[in-house]
Amino acid sequence: MELPVVALMAAAFLAISSGIEAASRPGGELYIRPSPRKTLWLPWRPRHSSYPQQVHISLAGENHIRISWITHDDSSPSVVDYGTAPGEYTSSSSIGETTSYFYLLYDSGKIHHVVIGPLEPDTVYYYRCGGQGREFHLKTPPAKFPITFAVAGDLGQTGWTATTLDHIGQCEYDIHLLPGDLAYADYMQHLWDSFGELVEPYASSRPWMVTEGNHEKESILLFKAGFQAYNARWRMPYEQSGSPSNLFYSFEVAGVHIIMLGSYTDYDVYSDQHAWLKADLAKVDRAKTPWLLVLLHAPWYNSNYAHQGEGDRMMAAMEPLLYAAGVDLVLAGHVHAYERSERVYNAGLNSCGAVHITIGDGGNREGLAQRFHQPKPEWSVFREASFGHGELKIVNETHAHWSWHRNDDDEAVKSDEVWINSLVSSACFAKRMPELRNILMTP
Ligand SMILES: *[C@@H]1O[C@H](CO)[C@@H](O)[C@H](O)[C@H]1NC(C)=O
Ligand SMILES: [Fe+2]
Repeated sequence: MELPVVALMAAAFLAISSGIEAASRPGGELYIRPSPRKTLWLPWRPRHSSYPQQVHISLAGENHIRISWITHDDSSPSVVDYGTAPGEYTSSSSIGETTSYFYLLYDSGKIHHVVIGPLEPDTVYYYRCGGQGREFHLKTPPAKFPITFAVAGDLGQTGWTATTLDHIGQCEYDIHLLPGDLAYADYMQHLWDSFGELVEPYASSRPWMVTEGNHEKESILLFKAGFQAYNARWRMPYEQSGSPSNLFYSFEVAGVHIIMLGSYTDYDVYSDQHAWLKADLAKVDRAKTPWLLVLLHAPWYNSNYAHQGEGDRMMAAMEPLLYAAGVDLVLAGHVHAYERSERVYNAGLNSCGAVHITIGDGGNREGLAQRFHQPKPEWSVFREASFGHGELKIVNETHAHWSWHRNDDDEAVKSDEVWINSLVSSACFAKRMPELRNILMTP
């Protein structure tokens, strides 16, 4: 009778003393967090096939979508047939490119990237890749508000990843934003393929816009440069935003300008990325895109023990630019827990700074980052180590609703939510313009 109580108290004491935050429930019970799950085993499929595999889509400039897939047959054509009714393909495109790569003994097969369009906004298209195989369908994003983004980083491919994806699949959203760490292949190239298969039902029907994490790097000293598999497979629309690299770029959709930064490529004030960021921020027209979002992998505001301080140098180099430009929201991954900040700048509260959200809790095999620094810093509003995903609904030019959904025993439970007002609609923005010009226009 007494034993469970003592055990529970001991567990609570341990949790508190080691910096683990116990999730308290409305009923007051202690929440026993689920443990990490094993990497999913996906059956090996015969190769030497021209059958399209691992289909995923991404935005590729205004009203255009890139369709990416892999075949193991070099003669398979890079063509996409599409139309707005099932089985009726009124258009066809072979605009694009193919690539492939070798990684030690591994041969990627033929990676096709075909751009289709112009497409109507907010419309369902049916499509087929390479003139054969299954029919897929996608929905294009809306041309104006409201627009909804699903957000989950550090996905991996475990049972919890499958749960997160299932929950995302049940919500209505237009685009998936992924702040880095996709497959957790970590040099095992076939794991990129199994990840591609795992996400295909979701990534073939809504654009997945991704940036790279440390698990995408896979470099081998003096032998392999980094990001070979990532760049070949997850090609993003960097040219359209004037970026020289697939590792950082921006895009616009329905009144939102989204900047995808690279935490694992040079970001100091003399780097290509820094110069590109300055130029990109200078081009943003807040009358056209009142919302300004940034994604990156290693968080700048993080009160977890995990990866503490890893984003500091990038933050020192780039946060002044983001602040001057009036970035509304920064979404990060890397730390396998959820955390949301107040508006912050320069490591403290600032009502004209960005809200920072760490959402690296997609469900990868490394498990959760359970230990938070105590006491909670004043800028941290909500933090919890659980798997889950986020939803950002931008309602209009002044209001956005953010919610975080925890994978609670395989159910999606809304656990944190907040209304965010755009900086454009605040007094900050009018005040900031001269400062912005000074910072952005100085060589
Ligand atoms: C924007 O959306 C919010 C929340 O739904 C609403 O209260 C507000 O009136 C809307 N503003 C405009 C200009 O429509
Ligand atoms: Fe990471």
